[in-house]
Amino acid sequence: GAAVWPGGARAGVPGWRAFGVASPRTGVFQRPLPIPAQATGTLDAAGVRHYQIAARPGSSELVAGVQTPTWSYNGAWLGPTLRIPRHQPVQLHVHNGLDQPTTLHWHGAQVPGRMDGGPHSVITPGDTWTAAYTLTQPAATLWYHPHPHAYTGPQVYAGMAGMLWIDDDTDARLGLPRTYGIDDLPVAIQDRRLDADGRLAYMTAARDVMGMKGDRFLVNGVEQPYAEVAAGWLRLRVLNASNSRVVNLAFRDGRRFYVIAGDASLLAEPVPMEQLLLAPAERAQILVDLRGDYGRRVVLASDSGAAVPGLYRTPMDVDAHDRRGFDLLELRVGPALALGTRLPAQLVEQPSLTPDGPTRRFVMAGMIASGAFGHLQAGHGYAPRAANGPGGMSAGVGDRNLFAINGEYMDMDKINVRVQRGATEVWQVTNVSLMAHPFHMHGTSFLIRSRDGKAPPPHERSWKDVVLVRGGETVELVARFDHPADAAHAYMYHCHILEHEDNGMMGQFVVT
Ligand code: C2O
Ligand code: CU
Ligand code: CU
Repeated sequence: GAAVWPGGARAGVPGWRAFGVASPRTGVFQRPLPIPAQATGTLDAAGVRHYQIAARPGSSELVAGVQTPTWSYNGAWLGPTLRIPRHQPVQLHVHNGLDQPTTLHWHGAQVPGRMDGGPHSVITPGDTWTAAYTLTQPAATLWYHPHPHAYTGPQVYAGMAGMLWIDDDTDARLGLPRTYGIDDLPVAIQDRRLDADGRLAYMTAARDVMGMKGDRFLVNGVEQPYAEVAAGWLRLRVLNASNSRVVNLAFRDGRRFYVIAGDASLLAEPVPMEQLLLAPAERAQILVDLRGDYGRRVVLASDSGAAVPGLYRTPMDVDAHDRRGFDLLELRVGPALALGTRLPAQLVEQPSLTPDGPTRRFVMAGMIASGAFGHLQAGHGYAPRAANGPGGMSAGVGDRNLFAINGEYMDMDKINVRVQRGATEVWQVTNVSLMAHPFHMHGTSFLIRSRDGKAPPPHERSWKDVVLVRGGETVELVARFDHPADAAHAYMYHCHILEHEDNGMMGQFVVT
């Protein structure tokens, strides 16, 4: 059946089903969806492609009529979409034009620890760091973001993020939509909160330490934009680049769409869905059939997550927007283009892995589980420490370790797990806290083996690098660790709610 939207149809707008909100915010769908520039690099005589990336301050009109000081890469909000062909040697030159240290991490890329851009690879202000690698993994929608120890949350919040697409022949030969910005759209979803002066407000309320949520919903850096698209198959490469909010993607008219890819690869076959949960840092590629929709407006939204079983357990991690849902992007469907694209019945071979190494357990636990959450409320000892941000972004950073993995908090000097290079391991991740945590590991991609002992749903059978683990749930992952990482450039595993990560919900592993 179709997605259920509380609130019924809104008068005067055909096909528009309300979430129980009287009307959308005025100014909604008034500005076009920005499409980040593509960076394809410059080929040198040795056959290496070079990409230039500069982190710098700027100003962005996230919300109509309001200039907000921001930080980003080569521009003011999202960085360029890096297009990297599979098997192509690349060098990425990252300049830090900010007044504070940063790092740049290629989220989902299978690269050695030295090139991973984690917390050990600090780029001091004014310096340039070069990452050199060759991606041999399949075509996928990856992304990049800073990863400095304890300051990932505020830097990403300030606007530092971008997409990295790996291209390969398999993807190119399938007949899928692949004209960038026309029928193959980057869709980076982020929520933000602004203060009265139009600056980004970060960790300014006590509850923010549970995960920073905003009340403005941006796609590619513009609040609730529209995109003009053709009546045909449309491919959306959706990245949830929010610091902490889980989105529950759905179309307002309840239409079915096809999930063709998860985080790190295409699926074996398209999976028809009407709602798709996407946790922070997760990606999905979806195909939407707009062939019969010339002249219509089709709205992509986040449906109420409150209806999703086991997603929200505590009032601390659910807000009014999670409960009601919110609009993201309006597709204005124009005439058809002769692009000759299709929805293939089969995509790629189903990946599989046979474990030959140890099974490890990771237990994600919160202090809330032991009943001690009084300090989260203002006046109970929660003291934000200051973080610098663009243009004096109102910012604090939590000073509490609220969630731990295996009872341990992130320690830059401690290696938590040692993996033997080449081993295929099972990682059993249990969440004994009340709220859901997206678990992520660096350096490799994994397959979900089971969720609470059951096979994962079809749309989660691609290669992945983030998995949402709900309260009380145990998820088994299987991964092969081919790339090396030593203690000086260890890989991370962590919760991708950035405020949890910054406050200790992260560990380090080496592969030797
Ligand atoms: Cu998206 Cu450790 O990173
Ligand atoms: Cu990562
Ligand atoms: Cu978490």
